[in-house]
Amino acid sequence: MVIAIDGPAGAGKSTVARALADELGFTYLDSGAMYRCVALTCLDWGADPTASGEATSTAESIEIGFEDGLVLIDGVDVSDEIRSPEVTEAASQVSVHPGVRQAMVAEQQRLIATGPYVTEGRDIGTVVAPDSPLKIFLTASPEARAERRSGQTGEDVAEVLAAQEERDRRDSEREHGALRAADDAITIDSTDLTSEQVVAQIAELARERGLA
Ligand code: DC
Repeated sequence: MVIAIDGPAGAGKSTVARALADELGFTYLDSGAMYRCVALTCLDWGADPTASGEATSTAESIEIGFEDGLVLIDGVDVSDEIRSPEVTEAASQVSVHPGVRQAMVAEQQRLIATGPYVTEGRDIGTVVAPDSPLKIFLTASPEARAERRSGQTGEDVAEVLAAQEERDRRDSEREHGALRAADDAITIDSTDLTSEQVVAQIAELARERGLA
């Protein structure tokens, strides 16, 4: 069983999903980290992240693991490396390829079948777990999202905003697994809310629905 939290980058999905999983005693799954692992491996191996065949065979060749809050590729900790601006850009590029998405979705479905999960991404409520009993679409204004990311990475806000616009466009316009709210998703705008307030709202919904 999975609580699905989808939305654009910087809306606060990771913080909210992690805290919610802690509160409910569920396992947290960061699906974006998986696309980042494919991107990092492409860069390390000299594969072109924009080339569908190269990115797909890279995705199919690696084993992605999650252990004690760390992200592993073939057993090696890459938790910090996958957050670099270069990997962020390449992750957006690899995530448009249907073959890459197919490999990631299959692995995500295998994981979430093993127990109660809070999973965040772009297509969890629409593709990975369309039968999820609680789907949240978490948004925030582009400016608030860019300011949050800049606060985390130290990059210039204007630069983050420009790069974010490009990734938002790629996320929303791609043919497979495009970012959109599932028909039965509840939209929460986090622009003027703290992450604690968002977590409290979702936890309340989970309890109302008998999920926790
Ligand atoms: O959430 P994030 O920034 O870590 O995601 C990294 C990239 O992966 C981002 O460009 C969108 C993509 N992604 C996706 O296509 N589908 C998902 N379920 C999660 C992330």
